[in-house]
Amino acid sequence: MTESEAIALVEKLLERGRLTKVQNIVFSQSWEGKTYLDMAVGNGYDTGYIKDVGSELWRSLSKALNEKVTKNNLHGVLKRFAQKQQEEIAASTLNLQPASNSTHWGEAIDVSRFYGRTTELETLSQWILGGGTHPERNRCRMVTLLGLGGMGKTALSVKLAQQIQAQFDFVIWRSLRDAPTLEELLKDLIKFLSQQQEITLPQNTGLQISRLIEYLRSSRCLIVLDNFDAVLASRQRAGYYREDYDAYGELLHRIGEIPHQSCLLLTSREKPAEVAALSGEMLPVRSLSL
Ligand SMILES: Nc1ncnc2c1ncn2[C@@H]1O[C@H](COP(=O)(O)OP(=O)(O)OP(=O)(O)O)[C@@H](O)[C@H]1O
Ligand SMILES: [Mg+2]
Repeated sequence: MTESEAIALVEKLLERGRLTKVQNIVFSQSWEGKTYLDMAVGNGYDTGYIKDVGSELWRSLSKALNEKVTKNNLHGVLKRFAQKQQEEIAASTLNLQPASNSTHWGEAIDVSRFYGRTTELETLSQWILGGGTHPERNRCRMVTLLGLGGMGKTALSVKLAQQIQAQFDFVIWRSLRDAPTLEELLKDLIKFLSQQQEITLPQNTGLQISRLIEYLRSSRCLIVLDNFDAVLASRQRAGYYREDYDAYGELLHRIGEIPHQSCLLLTSREKPAEVAALSGEMLPVRSLSL
């Protein structure tokens, strides 16, 4: 790792843009192995000041990396971090390779440069996979990720689905941005879950939902519906549906209430009414706000 690569990494980690002039001096000369005294004398600063800038820099870096960083272990820590990041990027690129017959990523965005959100990833995977001695009892049937536009719901949903995909027989990630009717959506889902065997659906919406639930019972499926707000009527009726989209309410209601071994993960700017009605800390329907 070169000095300028190290500086670029540090600037990214500290998330406050470029290092100041004196931070830059302290960082690069520490990188080269110089003492604080050398730096102070060579650049016309007071040694105490240089030391303070150094300690503050190592403290912020330790916080960002969750590992103690000192003037002396800089090389090792940063090199290891960069290496780990490379490996993660390689792994997540691999995960987005063409769908095998059990995963369908739709238009999932590339999350090879995804940072942080470890607490959220942990909470969500625990809700979805269950925990404790009886994970199947603690698993959620429906989880909603809420947040304003641009908060990172989509990115987090893709990252999460990639991380836990191995625990499922089927993973489907699908955006509702174009507001498909429920029938169009169910047709797609059932076609995929039946491995292209079932392409005609029962006439009535209730029966179509029942077909889907049969699949959610017989296999472990993770279905991610991104941009769920696209089927909600915003403003006047918060949490309720656009005209002709009421059937989505029935879908959520039944997926939330009927026992099965799968999970529906929604991302939405608004909380759907069924989620508000069915969710709770101890219940299998939960929501997380970003
Ligand atoms: N943890 C992260 N690390 C890196 N980039 C991120 C992260 N979270 C979000 N981003 C980036 O920030 C931008 C906005 O995030 P995203 O599209 O996920 O927001 P959103 O909540 O889904 O917004 P909307 O409600 O408009 O759909 C995207 O370019 C995304 O790649
Ligand atoms: Mg989004």
